[in-house]
Amino acid sequence: MRPKVLKIDPQKIDLELIKQAAEVISNRGLVAFPTETVYGLGANALEAKAVAGIFEAKSRPLDDPLIVHIAAREDLYELASCVPGAAEKLIDRFWPGPLTIVLKKKSIIPDIVTTGLETVAIRMPYNPVAQKFIATSGVPIAAPSANLFGRPSPTNANHVINDLEGKIDLVLDGGHADIGVESTVVEFVRDKIIVLRPGGTTVEDLRSIVGEVEVFTETGHWQRSPGRYPQHYSPKAKVKLVSDDPDQVERVLALARQEQKGGRRVGIMATGEHEVSYREFDVKVLGPREDARLCASRLFHILREFDEDEVDVIVAEAIGEQGLGLAVMNRLRKSAGPDFHIF
Ligand code: TXA
Ligand code: MG
Repeated sequence: MRPKVLKIDPQKIDLELIKQAAEVISNRGLVAFPTETVYGLGANALEAKAVAGIFEAKSRPLDDPLIVHIAAREDLYELASCVPGAAEKLIDRFWPGPLTIVLKKKSIIPDIVTTGLETVAIRMPYNPVAQKFIATSGVPIAAPSANLFGRPSPTNANHVINDLEGKIDLVLDGGHADIGVESTVVEFVRDKIIVLRPGGTTVEDLRSIVGEVEVFTETGHWQRSPGRYPQHYSPKAKVKLVSDDPDQVERVLALARQEQKGGRRVGIMATGEHEVSYREFDVKVLGPREDARLCASRLFHILREFDEDEVDVIVAEAIGEQGLGLAVMNRLRKSAGPDFHIF
């Protein structure tokens, strides 16, 4: 059954619609809602039964902890028992926004949310629909991305419906998600600040506020990193990444032709500058090379479009890892799976 879908204009929010969503939350239901990063699948974070519904709808393994979303900074201190100075500094600068902070949890948060960990991940989104929805619900909202486990995260309401039709109660459709990749997840271990997942807040921006920051690399140590499964964000097609070197175009073409010879349908995910070279294939443009922000905002949508085209292989151009490029490449490597090669 198609979930109820309520269209909301983020510039002019209809509070009656938000109240309907809050009502679903108070009845222990599931509401998909827009955030600036990707759509979330929300439930009352203080009700274990409601949160169990999230894992079931997504077919998410019960050892992958959820992020708790709040609408006001004060709410943080109800949920976390200890907030280090560096965390306060980052919050001062980046909340509300695409930054998730992992802190020691208070016992009010049920174990299912954190999968038994002593820490909880907390974030305050800036998307006005998300803010009104959380505030009106009057409780913290546990929400992973609103996709089936392992699929590319949803950046619009249709992506949510395609994955979760029949499994959730309501979708708040607030249009396209601005940023298009998930939040940056940061943890504090003794005096170290560690990025567990690169995302919407860039590492350069974090460093400008707190100095040294370590970035947890996904290769080799995937057990500790969030989205801890080596294959993630995956379209149905196999993703093959081609490194960002001067002969990238030639190598993309050689690989694509080889795949095609093997009888496979090939799609190419290209930067704008190289599009013309790939006209013989189904080519989709991520964005201009210099605009990692635009590339991030289009990434998951393009992966899903290739699924609709039923391609078998996506040959993807790697981009530079500055700014949001780091998050884009992290997602691309994960969508290529545990044994990815850079061609
Ligand atoms: O932008 C986002 O973060 C979106 C929107 C909806 O807010 N949410 C999102 O949730 O991406 P999800 O569940 O797809 O990813 C959250 C990641 C998980 O992979 C999980 O491993 C990590 O955050 N995480 C959650 N709690 C954690 C904890 N206590 N310690 C370390 N990592 C944690
Ligand atoms: Mg996710």
